Amino acid sequence: MAKHTDIARVLAEQKTGEKIEVKGWVRAFRANRFIALNDGSGANNLQVVVDFEQFDESVIKGISFHSCIAVSGTLVESQGSGQAVELQADTIEILGGNDLEKYPLQPKRQTMEFLRENAHFRMRTNTFSSVFRLRHALAFAVHSFFNEEGFYYMHTPIITGSDAEGAGEMFQVTTLDVKDSPKTDEGQVDYSQDFFGKATNLTVSGQLQAEIGALAMGKVYTFGPTFRAENSNTSRHLAEFWMIEPEVAFADLKDNMDLAEAFVKYLINYVLDKYMDDLNILDARIQQEEKNMKAELRRPMGLIETLRFVVDNEFARITYTEAINLLRSSKPYKKGRFEYDVEWGVDLQAEHERWLVEKKFQKPVIVTDYPKDIKAFYMRMNDDGKTVAAMDILFPGIGEVVGGSQREERLNVLMDRMTEMDVHHDELDWYLDLRRFGGNKHAGFGLGFERIVQFITGMTNIRDVIAFPRTPGSAEF
Ligand code: 4AD
Ligand code: MG
Repeated sequence: MAKHTDIARVLAEQKTGEKIEVKGWVRAFRANRFIALNDGSGANNLQVVVDFEQFDESVIKGISFHSCIAVSGTLVESQGSGQAVELQADTIEILGGNDLEKYPLQPKRQTMEFLRENAHFRMRTNTFSSVFRLRHALAFAVHSFFNEEGFYYMHTPIITGSDAEGAGEMFQVTTLDVKDSPKTDEGQVDYSQDFFGKATNLTVSGQLQAEIGALAMGKVYTFGPTFRAENSNTSRHLAEFWMIEPEVAFADLKDNMDLAEAFVKYLINYVLDKYMDDLNILDARIQQEEKNMKAELRRPMGLIETLRFVVDNEFARITYTEAINLLRSSKPYKKGRFEYDVEWGVDLQAEHERWLVEKKFQKPVIVTDYPKDIKAFYMRMNDDGKTVAAMDILFPGIGEVVGGSQREERLNVLMDRMTEMDVHHDELDWYLDLRRFGGNKHAGFGLGFERIVQFITGMTNIRDVIAFPRTPGSAEF
């Protein structure tokens, strides 16, 4: 018999009358007769019909939840209503039996927390295989968007000597013995003896190096892992996450916003166009989950409806100052329902972002021109001397999905800003060189990949859209 066929292909081609072989994991086995078989190639299961009298009892017993089997037989038109075709089994081989007495997962609804602890098995469930297929599709769409737009993909370093965000939330990289490191005369760790001859860390962002690319190749983007040692145990933070960072020469803040909005919409359209089966599974999962919830806790729209709404509507665009004014005249502010104060100069908290996005505008919102003191040193100073050409894109249910800015291209202004924010000039001399020699205005942003995957899959916890999450106190697998 020929090589086995992917189930996705069997279901797409529906070549009834043909003899085929499939291999996969049992999702369910009903009435000793109907196997729902899935091999991960697509969202839908293949129904395998078993005439149990034809098979050894040991084979029938071996067909259990998540056991691995090979089936050969004839593809026929289905007698049942749930599917167009089904496989009439001639032979069944148990490739990997599964003892349900010992297997951690069981064929029933299990909590996300439990599945997270069993991340080595959760990809076999409907929900997670859909999430990870969509994650793949979105990664692919990222490259396809930028390639179509004439951008070059650039690999920026994972190990670096600079702190791109100036926020100091870095994981150190060293080969020195932490218990007995060499010391300088002043008693400090002597990094000149370290592997790179200086202190290094895992990158928090590829932006600064992407700026090098943009000021030579015009339009570039990075897409790689980034690392942040911020101690945030929330449903939106990871210590290791993937970020997409385009950087564009001759672009200003408005160009940057337009690019970001077009990019996010492209990603959503891509999966609406090609991955409806997976989106339907996730949409149904949410409806099931919300069935017993109070109306006010349920999402205002279904998953697919939300995605369509986002691509069909323009994002709202407001300045930080306008956002503060709106918040200060809002009902929850006046009634003292916000936990954190709203005051010009202070960063927006999640509760404020949520009110703007979910209550006031009810769609994604781009907030621009933040106070300089709450943003990074490289953002371009506005003429008012108080705000910078920054933009954050806020999404319903998630909050900040994109953070970006026009970059400060004026050497003196940049140097003053670095001094003000305690970023040493000599450590970023090459960055200053980009302003000294053949510089020009440019802009870019970072999209948190897991956050957009979270939004598109409707998963409430960011740990459930990356196969092996790294969070404070946890680095399993
Ligand atoms: O706003 P951030 O910190 O911006 C930068 O790093 C810039 N250098 C980007 C640029 O202009 N090229 O991070 C960008 C995005 C955030 O909007 C958020 O979506 C995501 O990265 N992000 C995180 N995602 C998951 N876990 C974390 N701990 C994250 N921190 C940021
Ligand atoms: Mg940010």
